[in-house]
Amino acid sequence: MSLNGCGQQVLNGSAPAPVLEVTDLTVSLGGRIVLDNVAFNLARGSVAGLIGPNGAGKTTLLKTILGFVTAQSGSLKRSTRDGRGTARIGYVPQKIDLDADMPLRARDLVGLGLDGSRLGFPLPSRKRRALVDEALEAVGAAQFADKRVGRLSGGEQQRVLIAHAVIRQPDLLLLDEPLANLDLRSEHEIVDLVAALARRRGIASLVSTHDVNPLLGVMDQVVYLAAGKSACGRVDEVVTTEVLSALYGRQVDVLRVHGRVVVSAAPGPPLPLVDAATMHLPGAEHPPERVKR
Ligand SMILES: Nc1ncnc2c1ncn2[C@@H]1O[C@H](COP(=O)(O)OP(=O)(O)O)[C@@H](O)[C@H]1O
Ligand SMILES: [Mg+2]
Repeated sequence: MSLNGCGQQVLNGSAPAPVLEVTDLTVSLGGRIVLDNVAFNLARGSVAGLIGPNGAGKTTLLKTILGFVTAQSGSLKRSTRDGRGTARIGYVPQKIDLDADMPLRARDLVGLGLDGSRLGFPLPSRKRRALVDEALEAVGAAQFADKRVGRLSGGEQQRVLIAHAVIRQPDLLLLDEPLANLDLRSEHEIVDLVAALARRRGIASLVSTHDVNPLLGVMDQVVYLAAGKSACGRVDEVVTTEVLSALYGRQVDVLRVHGRVVVSAAPGPPLPLVDAATMHLPGAEHPPERVKR
């Protein structure tokens, strides 16, 4: 289902197009539908959480946006922050194991972000070094720029991977489980860093995680995936017993305890489908515009 206004900026004549418009996206892998009519928009400078249990299709969705996976139907539209071109994407993949002895310094990895899609002559080395230093500085990684990446802590590695992803000034930043295996403090730091980059640079950010809690303080919207379906809107619109039960096709309890959200899905066969079109959405300003089951 998609709630009115999900990812839309205030509609007036001067509002730029969303940086990303995902419309009715369906993706099959190995003969199974993994994403079923997924729809949402991302506005410039916003932070969206891509939330769902393991196997929900988060990585598949990010790879489809990147063009690594082909959609069966639906559309993806990318626009630059000023609405005049095609958005450039920065990507932080799901954590990779970096060997402690691999002879690659943090600054070397960040510099690789400048290559890839560059055509023609390489950048002059002074210019290149300045861009790498700037990216390292922007993510608070300057002090370990010359250390081997495999010897950095999880939080430090994430900073370096984010610097690698933002060095070419993307319009859209996709992060796949950047909080996995981080301690609580690093988790906060990475969330704050992503939010600061989004706000300061106008980057639309999509952060996948299976736990909604670390993002509660910074998220403008949530794109919730379960069983291939999506629900999109503000947290208080989407992360509710009613909406998640409809999405999972079974009873899901959403509890709020000391400012944290606990989502608990009952085991067992799916419940009869809920008619989400008539569903009451607490906190929603508008009834659902469009509902998919
Ligand atoms: N190449 C593939 N071929 C077949 N099935 C796949 C492939 N990649 C992922 N899947 C399946 O798609 C579903 C979604 O996977 P994924 O996108 O990795 O979920 P998440 O990132 O939310 O954990 C899973 O059931 C997974 O087994
Ligand atoms: Mg994944």
